[in-house]
Amino acid sequence: MANGFHDRSLTVLGIETSCDETAAALVRRDCDGQGAILSNIVRSQLELHAPYGGVVPEIAARAHVELLDAAILKALDEAGLKWEAIDGVAATAGPGLIGGLIVGMITGKAIALARGLPFIAVNHLEAHALTAGLTDGLAFPYLLLLVSGGHTQLLIVDDVGAYTRLGTTLDDALGEAFDKAAKLLGLGYPGGPEVERHALRGRANVKLPRPMLGRPEPHFSFAGLKTALRHAVAERGALSEQDIADFCASFQEAVADIVSDRVRRAMQLYVEGQAQGAPRVLVAAGGVAANQRLKAALSHVAEEQRFRLVVPPPGLCADNGAMIAWAGAERLARGLIDDLAAPSRARWPLDPDAPPALGAGVKA
Ligand code: KG4
Ligand code: ZN
Repeated sequence: MANGFHDRSLTVLGIETSCDETAAALVRRDCDGQGAILSNIVRSQLELHAPYGGVVPEIAARAHVELLDAAILKALDEAGLKWEAIDGVAATAGPGLIGGLIVGMITGKAIALARGLPFIAVNHLEAHALTAGLTDGLAFPYLLLLVSGGHTQLLIVDDVGAYTRLGTTLDDALGEAFDKAAKLLGLGYPGGPEVERHALRGRANVKLPRPMLGRPEPHFSFAGLKTALRHAVAERGALSEQDIADFCASFQEAVADIVSDRVRRAMQLYVEGQAQGAPRVLVAAGGVAANQRLKAALSHVAEEQRFRLVVPPPGLCADNGAMIAWAGAERLARGLIDDLAAPSRARWPLDPDAPPALGAGVKA
């Protein structure tokens, strides 16, 4: 590839503002394709949104304006680098909350313009999808389970920019289901870590459904599970601490069963579609991949299906700037540069050709 960027080490600034983390990072990609995180600054807006039980878009956008410049300067400082050391600027262009995206995009474009640097508009989902290349030096192809607050998908990752969606959720994303379960049980936001913490002391003794089990296409559905939990909680009346723990454990077991079944099916489809001898690797990414019970369930399926499981460390599974910088570096190395008219996009599917999943709502 003769683009001037493929055969040298690249240092890229990554900016992430798609939801409630204001993040900036510097990542280096060597010409052999190996990556290194030079700094990774994440400013959580959790306290601002906690009183509302979820992310408030307007508050998030304003907070990004306040926090982003300092986060970028800190990223430079911690990496011990000056502006001159940077080869490209990457910002999340979507999908996400549009106000926040615009803040990150305008900042990234302004820096690129002022310094005469290439600008890369990064798909947030692609950044999650490519993180294992940064953390584990993983080569393509691999099967990806992407589980976050806004997305639940199974994808084949063949290369940068080459994704085939095998499955998606027909309704709620898995992280959203955790957040709603937590809310039902009077726990804080974000709900995933709360549910996981309480589940440690709980017994999985509440009967809950496992929607979609055994379906030939590896899609997901969590709305029925959430409704069943709501009914079970209402029936119980006043909840003791032990009740809450038991509900959390039961919910988490149902999730582990559903995800195991759907991933097993996706592994079969992946193997059928790949050439003999293709790597059998499952990567789990996105905030929910930090869940230890889910990770244990995935290890079990991986062992059973003779797959290697790769899960980036929790801080790099959740939203961060390093994954945006890395996706930017991977694109830059291939000469994939955007111009300053690149739009911010509230919706931006990784596989735009995927057929619509039957019954899927807006999140497909
Ligand atoms: O990837 P992420 O940081 O942001 C999005 O792009 O959405 O994911 C956030 C989601 C939230 O719904 C949160 O409750 C969930 O990930 N989450 C977890 C855990 N940690 C975060 N869910 C289950 N168990 C966890 N330990
Ligand atoms: Zn995310």
